[in-house]
Amino acid sequence: MTTPGNPAASTMSRSEEAVAKHKRYIWPSVTNYYQHPLVADRAEMQHVWDVEGRKYLDFFGGILTVSVGHCNPKVTSKINAQVNRLQHLSTLFPNEQIVALAEKIAQITPGNLSSSFFTSSGSEANEAAILIARMATGSFDLVALRHAYSGGSSMMKAVTAHAPYRKASIVSQGISHAINPYCYRCPLHLKYPECEVACAGDVENLIQTGTSGSIAAFIAEPIQGVGGFITPPKEYFKIVFNTVKKYGGLFISDEVQTGWGRTGKKWFGIEKWEVTPDIMTSAKGMANGVPVGLTVTTPEISAGFQGLNISTFGGNPVTSVAARATIELIEEENLLENAERVGTYFRGKLEELQAKYPLIGDVRGMGLMQALELVKDRKTKEPAPAATTQVLELARANGLLIGKGGLSGNVIRLAPMLNTTKPDVDEAIRLLDKSFSEVPN
Ligand SMILES: Cc1ncc(COP(=O)(O)O)c(C=O)c1O
Repeated sequence: MTTPGNPAASTMSRSEEAVAKHKRYIWPSVTNYYQHPLVADRAEMQHVWDVEGRKYLDFFGGILTVSVGHCNPKVTSKINAQVNRLQHLSTLFPNEQIVALAEKIAQITPGNLSSSFFTSSGSEANEAAILIARMATGSFDLVALRHAYSGGSSMMKAVTAHAPYRKASIVSQGISHAINPYCYRCPLHLKYPECEVACAGDVENLIQTGTSGSIAAFIAEPIQGVGGFITPPKEYFKIVFNTVKKYGGLFISDEVQTGWGRTGKKWFGIEKWEVTPDIMTSAKGMANGVPVGLTVTTPEISAGFQGLNISTFGGNPVTSVAARATIELIEEENLLENAERVGTYFRGKLEELQAKYPLIGDVRGMGLMQALELVKDRKTKEPAPAATTQVLELARANGLLIGKGGLSGNVIRLAPMLNTTKPDVDEAIRLLDKSFSEVPN
């Protein structure tokens, strides 16, 4: 087959052709992993095959989105049935699927978070959360955390605190960023627990100095995702919650990466920190790869919404069925427990790798959300982004898909599916071990 205007296409392999067209027709800001990007052809549960037929064990799940296995038949069969029955009528017409999903969410969320608004992405979910917080409190100012990633819309780029995602003239008026609880690189140069979680005090200082003194909301990820799975000390969010309340704000937990059992044992990451938020947002793993965004809050807060709100695709029957099927599968197969049990096992194995390779400066995370921060020298902690890229490439060559993150691009993110087994972990560790051993000195 030749492509008009591109005679070379006939001599290209399938993956070369896809990569060339990606470069030609997709915005260059949409970057791909790997020097020779991987063009996927199909996937089944824990595995992905590229168009050349090579098989990979997937420990990143499409950025923590494929939560219960690629094309899991227990989810896709329900999606297929719904596609053939009723796909779309908009929220102008109530449907049984959206209300069943909302009811299910009300049953599993902490506190009285029982009033849902559905969209199609995490960015929209966070937009809705901030909008309702501003309306419900009558205040405007927001506090977020440095190293946060909150989405790609204009306001979410302003909430995000990573320079590469904040380019152009984003409007960040009314949004202030507190230092984050990044123990490995403590912004206050202190050590936990002697520090007595001093970083949490920055939120109050920031409210007093960088806002009008009363805030609409504090928004944070229970474990920062794109930031490199930065995991706060256990006291951090409890302290911050009290500060947020003192200044009249609502606490928004961004569960886009940490929701649905990812951190083990609990449905939501913030529950691990023993805080009941006023609003939770989610997307990604909620529907195993089908686009759904969720903003859930209390009936009192949602009643504060002024004017009207609609999301054309939000709560669509097909996406609602996909989300409920995913949530029910997590429940039926006891995957919260599995994430805790296999996650603990995984963590132990990663710590063994750390003992073997000085390149691994820090191991952190919870449940099936674990990260390795790579450094050139354990004493100076100088980030090692080039070696991180090499590990990513070597892992791919060895048949393992993993992710990258962190402000300096020196964090390996590992987030296998919630139904990952210990043998899957053993295989991933074997491949990671091999990859680390092949990093040139
Ligand atoms: C924590 C967090 N919040 C929000 C978002 C934005 O979600 P989306 O890309 O679906 O708009 C992301 C995406 O990576 C995320 O990781």
